[in-house]
Amino acid sequence: MPDYDALAAQARDSFEKAGDEKSLEEARVEWIGRKGRITVLLRQIPKLEADDRPEAGRRLNAIKSELAELFEHRSIELVEKALPVETRLDITHPGRTPFVGRLHPITKALREIVAVFREMGFDVAEGPQVETDYYNFEALNMPEHHPARGMWDTFYTGVPPGLVLRTHTSPVQIRVMESTPPPVRIIVPGRCYRADTPDATHSPVFYQVEGLYVDEGVSMAMLRGVLDAFARRLFGEDVPTRFRPSYFPFTEPSAELDIGCILCSGEGCRLCKGSGWLEILGAGMVNPALYGLVGYDAEQVAGYAFGMGVERIAMLRYGIDDIRLFYENDLRFLGQF
Ligand code: FA5
Repeated sequence: MPDYDALAAQARDSFEKAGDEKSLEEARVEWIGRKGRITVLLRQIPKLEADDRPEAGRRLNAIKSELAELFEHRSIELVEKALPVETRLDITHPGRTPFVGRLHPITKALREIVAVFREMGFDVAEGPQVETDYYNFEALNMPEHHPARGMWDTFYTGVPPGLVLRTHTSPVQIRVMESTPPPVRIIVPGRCYRADTPDATHSPVFYQVEGLYVDEGVSMAMLRGVLDAFARRLFGEDVPTRFRPSYFPFTEPSAELDIGCILCSGEGCRLCKGSGWLEILGAGMVNPALYGLVGYDAEQVAGYAFGMGVERIAMLRYGIDDIRLFYENDLRFLGQF
């Protein structure tokens, strides 16, 4: 019987000494190739004494698999060695962080706004994005040909007639009042559409959050209080706000709320178009003309409503000076939130 230990040591040595891929391959052929020394010895096992065969088989097979493994290991080492230094594996290099998706900044802002109003006792309601002319305009005190319809540059679906892509979340006010007796206290987050030309503060698709509170004794002072509390929660205790008189057919009186521009601290910049203020919402006391349509008693109840632009709020919240950035799907931008 050959001295297997000596044989294995000799074979190991020739694999380890191989300085390049060519001599490693020669070592492989010499030892474990088809006519290699170990292969030949394996083939000769049947000629050995019967008692010696099991031991010879065990030892030779163990040596063969050890050498095959050594060969793999050495060839990786030699390939690596042949590479330029900068492409070699550096096991001390920090791992690459896997790409993890995250929420879109508008989704984050929406969730934040909804959370603040829920804390104040508002429920969440939703309505369809393809809306009837009745809910989008008529029930909001804008009969056909009413000039106020011009305040909303509307996408009409054409077929079937009488449908529009909702221009605001206000139609959900009507839908909810129709199906729920007072008191109602809801917010309505949702997507809106207008044929507005895109610029730094306008997008043809954007989000609003509508608010509606109808009960006995609801006042304009409560509206102002809720909106101020909201602004402070989102933008800090010292944020300047201002209520400007405005007009909406479905509220009387009506107002708009501006927030002091956070980007330029009121100095005037691209976002606030030099004014130092950014309009974030329209609001007012629900026009009693609406109550008749939904079966509420205008003598009994009063209510306030507001509709805020989510992108504008996100822009102020995150210091973004162009609304279009939200909709370009540039991961360099989106990855920052
Ligand atoms: C309305 O849409 C009214 N429905 C708001 C309202 C609700 C008034 C309830 C009274 C009672 P307005 O058209 O001003 O109003 O839009 C409200 C807000 O939506 C704006 O202040 C602005 O923040 C946002 N907004 C309007 N158009 C766009 C647009 N094209 N892109 C991004 N935001 C917009």
